[in-house]
Amino acid sequence: MNNKEIAKKRVFIRTFGCQMNVRDSEVISGLLDKAGYKLTDDETKADIEIMNTCSVRQLAEDKVWSAVGRSKAKIIGISGCMANNYREGIFEKAPKVDFVVGTADIGKLPGILKEIEKHKGGVLEKKIYETDADLREDEIYHTGFHLDKEHAFVVISEGCENYCSYCVVPYVRGKLRSRDYGDILDEIREDIDSGIKNITLLGQNVNAYQFKDVNFVELVELVNSVKGLKEFSFVTSHPKDTSLELFKAMRDCDKLKKYLHLPVQGGSDRILKLMNRGYTRQFYTNLVADYRKTVKNGELTTDIIVGFPTETEEDFEETRDLVKDLEFNAAYIFKYSVRPHTEALKLADDVPVKEKERRHKIILDLQKSISKKKNEK
Ligand code: 5AD
Ligand code: SF4
Repeated sequence: MNNKEIAKKRVFIRTFGCQMNVRDSEVISGLLDKAGYKLTDDETKADIEIMNTCSVRQLAEDKVWSAVGRSKAKIIGISGCMANNYREGIFEKAPKVDFVVGTADIGKLPGILKEIEKHKGGVLEKKIYETDADLREDEIYHTGFHLDKEHAFVVISEGCENYCSYCVVPYVRGKLRSRDYGDILDEIREDIDSGIKNITLLGQNVNAYQFKDVNFVELVELVNSVKGLKEFSFVTSHPKDTSLELFKAMRDCDKLKKYLHLPVQGGSDRILKLMNRGYTRQFYTNLVADYRKTVKNGELTTDIIVGFPTETEEDFEETRDLVKDLEFNAAYIFKYSVRPHTEALKLADDVPVKEKERRHKIILDLQKSISKKKNEK
């Protein structure tokens, strides 16, 4: 296949899930663009459709299965978390899928597509491309492809090894790997040269960042000193890796947005322990007090899961009281969803769906009124 033929191939990338996936889709787009493929946002005109998937909750996966069912593309690929979650099982569940590429292997996509196209006219060999999650080749982050002209996501670390008992991420994205801060800073400078003003540093657990002698707080200080950068922020932080030192850096770094997303997940110590979060309600509340004292007018948002196995009415009320007390600017509330590989799988999913819905609505309504009150201030 020569480059002219490739140039005729139109690729549609469908993104599911979080900001990490949005960035991964940009990375894939940049690589395929460089390899001569034509990117399209019209799915009906695509020869190749790549679904960049999410496994964090069952609902996210259900959306992917139905999108595969609807797809009319000649070649369909699955990348992202579901690729690692189901591997060859995807071909059984969705025979239309032609190839599966793991989260650590997206850099190989141009080569994979070329290989697949060699089978044009013949029977495609269904294939899975996945290695153990090594750090990705750094060059894949430097194609300069961004959906937004002024804002860019910059991945600082891949994977997570916190093993929260409900979470599939460590199993589908592998252990924590931190990028070389030199490469991160180069990428940010390249972004600025192309007109980007605002950066979001991304990682499943950003504040566990450690490359050689540089930790997250030091990385933040380095980023703050990049010439031409106007503003930056970071997501997502884990409370157990968050400290007063970070809040002081947030206070002192003039370009750093005064915004912290700090998932608490629950208000009951018993449930937090079962979730393997590594902190207590008191530890989290103290952190919030430190944050508010140190970072004046800092925004605070959180994630909460309701209906975790064995969650009683009393446990739930502790979560409700915490939400009432801490007055987050916003909270993302999720109903517990059973995930493969996880520790919580061993516990019975014993909170009935109706009850999960009730608890979900109570926190949602409560947070809505808090957010409204805070926005009026
Ligand atoms: N069920 C429900 N919510 C979950 N999250 C992660 N795993 C699950 C699960 N199994 C939520 C957490 C996390 C957010 C990204 O998704 O709140 O912070
Ligand atoms: Fe999942 Fe916990 Fe890692 Fe977040 S910190 S990605 S919730 S295991």
